[in-house]
Amino acid sequence: MFDKNMFKGRAIFLTGGGTGLGRSMALHFASLGARVFIAGRREEPLKEVCAEIQGAGGEAAYFTCDVRDYAAVEAAADKAYAQFGAIDTLVNNAAGNFIARTEKLSANAFNTVIGIVLNGSFHCTQAFGKRWIAEKSGGNILNIVTTYASTNAGSAFVVPSACAKAGVLAMTTSLAVEWAKYRIRINAIAPGPFPTEGAWSRLMASKQFEEHAKEKNPMKRFGRHEELTSLAVFLLSDMAEYINGECVVIDGAQWLRGAGEFNDLLMLPDSVWEQMEAARAKKS
Ligand code: COA
Repeated sequence: MFDKNMFKGRAIFLTGGGTGLGRSMALHFASLGARVFIAGRREEPLKEVCAEIQGAGGEAAYFTCDVRDYAAVEAAADKAYAQFGAIDTLVNNAAGNFIARTEKLSANAFNTVIGIVLNGSFHCTQAFGKRWIAEKSGGNILNIVTTYASTNAGSAFVVPSACAKAGVLAMTTSLAVEWAKYRIRINAIAPGPFPTEGAWSRLMASKQFEEHAKEKNPMKRFGRHEELTSLAVFLLSDMAEYINGECVVIDGAQWLRGAGEFNDLLMLPDSVWEQMEAARAKKS
């Protein structure tokens, strides 16, 4: 569907690029000609992703940094500019999350997730936004949030993440307006369940819960990485130039499944529907 040179000339800075969906996005962007600069806390996975991209003929570089630390983010941005001349796209993907009963959380546990997700996304956005405004170059930002980021959703047992991601969503919509005059676009993707080692080990309480989550999804399956990475490509591409401040949900309608009052009727077998329909037919 996408032209193989679609991202030629683009230089993308992506956080959390060593593993999971970040890794998948980095590989997909590079396969379309983008130069990819990945940042993360652990060197080994970053190195491996860069080697994989370079092995396939692409361009990639990395820098180890903790997005909670603004000075480290600034250093990473300097390195990325030195490497590729400029950066035109930022993907805020790095996240931290775990399931826990909220009353058992320490203040530091809450701050840790807020620090990575909300402060980290702000730090990167600020570091690149400032450069793009000074250079009058324009820019593109994509934030990876979650379906429960919406303030009228939320989710039990992941309160720090829900608060942090809701903040990132507010930053997305706010800056879409504030920075449009600088030709900086900012959008978000809200993924439902996409299997990754990081998310599964932290968020899937048990095999039984995993089966339950799959069964509850109207499409009876989890997301495939290429489905999310393709959406990211589209939103970052010139084809989506007029999309600004939007959050696109990609979850097989999982979150809508939990919303509708009568959605649990999905559990009714056809035989029960047929009985009800037959009873109604007799009456009329
Ligand atoms: N339940 C409750 N509290 C938890 C917890 C859990 N499962 N995991 C960590 N914490 C608390 C710690 O106890 C600590 O608080 P304390 O100092 O009061 O004891 C605080 O959170 C920080 O934990 P620490 O392990 O020191 O932080 P870290 O910076 O090394 O790691 C995490 C950050 C906790 C978010 C870790 O899970 C991580 O590195 N995640 C990155 C990947 C990720 O989560 N991706 C998202 C997948 S969806």
